[in-house]
Amino acid sequence: MPDISSTTGTPYAGGKILKHAADGVGVVTFNNPDKRNAMSLEMWEGFGEALAALRDDDTVRVVILRGAGGKAFVSGADISQFEKTRHNAAASEEYAKRSAAQRALLADYPKPTIACIDGYCLGGGMQVAMLADIRLASHGSQFGIPAARLGIAYGYDGLRHLVSLAGPAWARLLMYTGMRIDSAEALRIGLVERLFPAGELWGETMTIAETIAQNAPLAIKAAKITIAQVLKDESARDMEAIKAIGNACMDSEDFREGRQAFMEKRKPKFRGR
Ligand code: COA
Repeated sequence: MPDISSTTGTPYAGGKILKHAADGVGVVTFNNPDKRNAMSLEMWEGFGEALAALRDDDTVRVVILRGAGGKAFVSGADISQFEKTRHNAAASEEYAKRSAAQRALLADYPKPTIACIDGYCLGGGMQVAMLADIRLASHGSQFGIPAARLGIAYGYDGLRHLVSLAGPAWARLLMYTGMRIDSAEALRIGLVERLFPAGELWGETMTIAETIAQNAPLAIKAAKITIAQVLKDESARDMEAIKAIGNACMDSEDFREGRQAFMEKRKPKFRGR
């Protein structure tokens, strides 16, 4: 299991973002617990660098995102920076460009991603969590997008994911009120996939990550690409990409290994080719 204590790992953004990798599992930790892991622009950029490093590390097959400190996943963008960096439309556009570029990396990430949510998941934290492929959370977590309380427009990408996960009516209720909901409600409306007691969340997340890391990478890539295309409008769908990854899978050494291992009643050893 990767060591995920907040003092270890490769530091980015002066240690406010940490990166770990072991046994096929990469971990990015938001490590600003004094501010409930609020994201400064430097942290957004460090997050992007850590994501890119894990993307380019061939030993990593799945990436977990988590918050340090046991109180928050991410409490949103760092509001203390807003006076300087986000005080009007022009500044906000520049801010959005710099932070959105990092989130775009996550949106197009070629490997499976899991958000492991223990505590507050708010605003920009929800955006990160909703961009991950899977969301696992502790029972005591809380979710919300307080944009209307701050006077912020949440933007197309964040709302697109909120609507696709929770539906337009819940998206409206959450956005108009800025309310926070607990994890049972988040589970019920589709914002998270599974809940665990806080003490079990990390172990359960690792079990799922390790299962993914041991499965056939090309088959997982095929699922990821195909599901992303299903979510697009029919006119924008890249059916060729689905066909290409399907062919790569069916021609792969791993498919042969999967068949053989089944017949020989042993565990397959997949290599991603
Ligand atoms: N940006 C900047 N600082 C933040 C922050 C954020 N998004 N969220 C929390 N902090 C800071 C607080 O200002 C406080 O700093 P201080 O110790 O210097 O006073 C510290 O983190 C702890 O927060 P506190 O409110 O005392 O902790 P809490 O556990 O009672 O509440 C939250 C936690 C996350 C519910 C609460 O801090 C909050 O509502 N934060 C703002 C969330 C938000 O609006 N996010 C959307 C931003 S777009």
